[in-house]
Amino acid sequence: MTHAQNPAHAVLSQDDLKTLVGQAALQYVVPGEIVGVGTGSTVNKFIDALASMKDQIKGAVSSSVASTERLQALGITVFDCNDVAELSVYIDGADEVDHQGYMIKGGGAALTREKIVAAQSRQFVCIADESKLVQTLGKYPLPVEVIPMAVKRITRQFEAMGANVVLRLAGGMPLLTDNGQYILDVTGLHITDPLGFESQVNQWPGVVTVGVFAFQKAQVCLLGTASGVKTLSF
Ligand code: A5P
Repeated sequence: MTHAQNPAHAVLSQDDLKTLVGQAALQYVVPGEIVGVGTGSTVNKFIDALASMKDQIKGAVSSSVASTERLQALGITVFDCNDVAELSVYIDGADEVDHQGYMIKGGGAALTREKIVAAQSRQFVCIADESKLVQTLGKYPLPVEVIPMAVKRITRQFEAMGANVVLRLAGGMPLLTDNGQYILDVTGLHITDPLGFESQVNQWPGVVTVGVFAFQKAQVCLLGTASGVKTLSF
């Protein structure tokens, strides 16, 4: 583990920590290439920092409409996934990350596209403030993107595991993802075998994507802490 100090010993807010890790992620961007870009408030800090390198990269592949719009507003070209063979690096946040680099993602409802771009990338660099580091995944409500007609059956399957399930709403209506599907938020899970859990839930008919990122885990986590950015390698 390496540790960049906070020399001023300033009191850093959660927003400051997100800015720090967003800027620190620039060191993983390969000049002349296309970078994979995730979604969320931490990634927004990275996108803002990436603007300083926009003339050194070909562009980005984005994991959401929101990130695409932010990248384009800063003059960064966004490529379609299907037009790009492989990415050297994908940079994204997480809702939880454990000490093996396994994550829960999807708090911003972009988990399916995030997993697609992560799968297309040789290295996943997770950027997160220290509140996201956990021993075991599952305290944060697990997002699961599902086909609407399967909502009730998938809910019952999670309930049979002892979990509680809530359909995510927006303005009183089911939230629609960028893919036109629904999100279930699942609490009460203690995910001790992320690879096995992801495999299991992926098999349920109607599940588009489960928000456990075990097969697409992080290789590096830049963790924003009160004393600076820690680099965790997995
Ligand atoms: C988006 O769908 C998520 O996977 C985000 O990566 C995750 O929710 C982290 O977001 P923040 O950086 O806003 O906490």
